[in-house]
Amino acid sequence: MSFNGKIAVVTGGASGMGNAVVRLLAQEGCAVYALDIQETKDAQHIPCDVSDHRQIQKAIAQVVAREKRIDLLFAAAGYHLFANIEQTSVEDFERILAVNLKGVFFVLKEVLPVMRAGKYGNIVLMGSDQVFVGKGGSSAYGLTKAAIGQLTKSTAIDYAPHNIRVNCICPGTIDTPMLQPTVERYHRASGIPLEDIYETLRKAQPIQRLGKAEEIARAVLFMLSDDCPFMTGALVCVDGGFTCQ
Ligand SMILES: NC(=O)c1ccc[n+]([C@@H]2O[C@H](COP(=O)([O-])OP(=O)(O)OC[C@H]3O[C@@H](n4cnc5c(N)ncnc54)[C@H](O)[C@@H]3O)[C@@H](O)[C@H]2O)c1
Repeated sequence: MSFNGKIAVVTGGASGMGNAVVRLLAQEGCAVYALDIQETKDAQHIPCDVSDHRQIQKAIAQVVAREKRIDLLFAAAGYHLFANIEQTSVEDFERILAVNLKGVFFVLKEVLPVMRAGKYGNIVLMGSDQVFVGKGGSSAYGLTKAAIGQLTKSTAIDYAPHNIRVNCICPGTIDTPMLQPTVERYHRASGIPLEDIYETLRKAQPIQRLGKAEEIARAVLFMLSDDCPFMTGALVCVDGGFTCQ
């Protein structure tokens, strides 16, 4: 896999799986721009809230002004909300749609014309095991991730003639900074001891442990590389076997 000289945009590149991809791409000689509300020194950080179309427009324009093109996009920015429908306020619902779904649409809307002009692009969108299966206490989050699966497929069809591939990574439960507050929220709502929740999460995946950010990042790098030129519109599970049960 060679990323030498390539230009990448990673949303959510400051933490977790987005950050793991940022670090691996940078090691491979890629110029990486992390669009994130959190700061990072692992890439060229552009402060950007992906739920705001204007901020994305400005951020992508900044990358293009500097680099003249964008080759790779990993849209990882997002968060989890542990709540069933009654526990989800209208504001919570609108916020998670704005970040997890509209944020992906907006970044695609700005990056795709740049890739089309360059007649090249590899894109990976962040899905979840919830692209395939439902989970309790996850109505709004699951909805956003299932929608990303559909967005992957239709965008892949539209842009295949332009030499732009669009795929979706679907991780299982991964030990990232996002997981701990989610588990704590579930612990407060259910009264189940924290360690019991972690044990259940580990045992739910046939490999019997949580995934690591780097394990997802290695799969994403392959999907972003030119080593899989016939792969587009694919929903790729990396979930310790969770969704094959
Ligand atoms: N951890 C898991 O088990 C898991 C499983 C499947 C999918 N996911 C998805 O993977 C993605 C990354 O999650 P992670 O687990 O690495 O978590 P993380 O919290 O470590 O990373 C998420 C990153 O997104 C950024 N972000 C959040 N809201 C943003 C916004 N409005 N604008 C710009 N940046 C924003 C955060 O600042 C952070 O850097 C999310 O979309 C999440 O839903 C996580």
